[in-house]
This record gives sequence, structure tokens and C-alpha cells, in this order.
Amino acid sequence: MRKRIIAGNWKMYKTAEEAEKFAEEVKGKLPVSDRVEAIVCAPALYLTKLVELTEGSALNIGAQTMHSEKEGAFTGEVSPAMLKSVGVNYVVLGHSERREYYNETDQTVNEKVHAAFEYGLTPIVCVGETLEERESHTTVEKVSHQVKEAFKEVDGTNVKNAVIAYEPIWAIGTGKTATADDANEVCKAVRETVGELYGEEVADAVRIQYGGSVNPGNVEELLSKEHIDGALVGGASLEPASFIKLIEAGANE
Ligand code: 13P
Repeated sequence: MRKRIIAGNWKMYKTAEEAEKFAEEVKGKLPVSDRVEAIVCAPALYLTKLVELTEGSALNIGAQTMHSEKEGAFTGEVSPAMLKSVGVNYVVLGHSERREYYNETDQTVNEKVHAAFEYGLTPIVCVGETLEERESHTTVEKVSHQVKEAFKEVDGTNVKNAVIAYEPIWAIGTGKTATADDANEVCKAVRETVGELYGEEVADAVRIQYGGSVNPGNVEELLSKEHIDGALVGGASLEPASFIKLIEAGANE
């Protein structure tokens, strides 16, 4: 059985004090469970401190983006080697907000996926369609294409350990969630795409999250679906009580 993976994506929220308070409050209250992995993807500025604060707890810390190069003249960027050096093990790549506002393309996402594996980071690779694409019934085509591009020339043994987050863009921060069945359908298509590329064993192992207005009220139904192995959560990951509820839901059979 695939271990669930539920990750908060804080985006550009919280002061240092608020971030630390969250970690202090949450770390002792998460269920210690083989069924679920709990992660918070925080602003880069707080990663060192959060890793320190959560050491030995069930709360893992991830980054929200990174550069693909080890080092270089890239003002303002954070490298995979830097993330690794502060004890970060997860990184969100290709979030739709990065693709829309910061010129991330399928190609840069692919470069970053390669870099993540090179440095021993688990990438959480985001894919998803716009409302227009959904309405013109090209969701599966779009998402499969993004998966193929993101994992181009990546070794199957690495893909097994990757996480793919299916986040329909129209469902992000809007309160509109895909129905659990619709989300499952697309996650199934993602798994089939991985299967076409890498075979059944890798497709069975890869973990697929749903993201887009997930909250404690809808997470259980989403997690009950065959192809949904977790969630990538924005707004509802910001408050300790809500985040804990999400992880508790993930720990249930
Ligand atoms: P919301 O949960 O706020 O809709 O955000 C989803 C998201 O973009 C997570 O990466």
C-alpha cells in the first residue's frame, strides 16, 4: 500500500514568529503513523529554523521551489544543494503559480526534477489544467503531457520515489474542489501515463496528490479514492488545528 503524503504549501504567508509558533504547536500533536507522511512547505527563509524545531518529530519540512543548478550567479535563487545542506528533503516543483508568474516551463521543471534527484530531494511535481482546458475536455491530454515533460529522461527508479500533485488551476484558492470522482479520474490518468513511460511497478509506487481547496471537510472523501494518495494544501494548511485534522484524516485507514 502506498504511504499517503499530505503537504501544506504555505506560499507567501507567515512571519518568522508565526512560522515557528506553528511548528511548536503542531509537531507534538501529529499522529505518528505508517499510513501518512506530513510535510509543510515553507518560505525558504524559515527552512533552517523549521528543520531544527521539528527534528525527530512527525512533521517534515519542504521547500516551495528551487533552482536547478548547484550554485552560480543567480541572484535571489536557492539551489538544491542549499536545501539539502539545511536538512530539507522535499521540494514543490512546477506549481501553477510558478509557471504563471515566474516563467516556469515544462523544460525548467524537467531540469529541476533531475536536480532534485541528483541531490536526494523528493520532488512534488505539480500538474493541472486551466478552466478553459477543463471545459474543452483536454484535461487528461494537458496533464499527461506535463507529466511526460517533467519526467523526461528521468530514471524509473527515481520516478518511483517522486510525488505528483494534480492541482486543477481553477480549484486553487477558489473554494471550488474537483469532485472526488473527477479528481480520482485525472489521478488515474496520471498513473497510467507513468505506467506507459516506466511500467506497472513504477506506476504502482508513485504517489499522486490532489490539490485545490482541500480542507478538513473534504479530505476524507478525496483520500478514499483509489488513485489519490494525499493532498497538497494551501489555505487550510496555515492554521495548526486545520493542518492537524488533515494529517489525522490521512492516518485513518
Ligand atoms: P488552496 O488549498 O488554497 O486551494 O491551494 C492549493 C495549492 O495551490 C496548493 O499548492
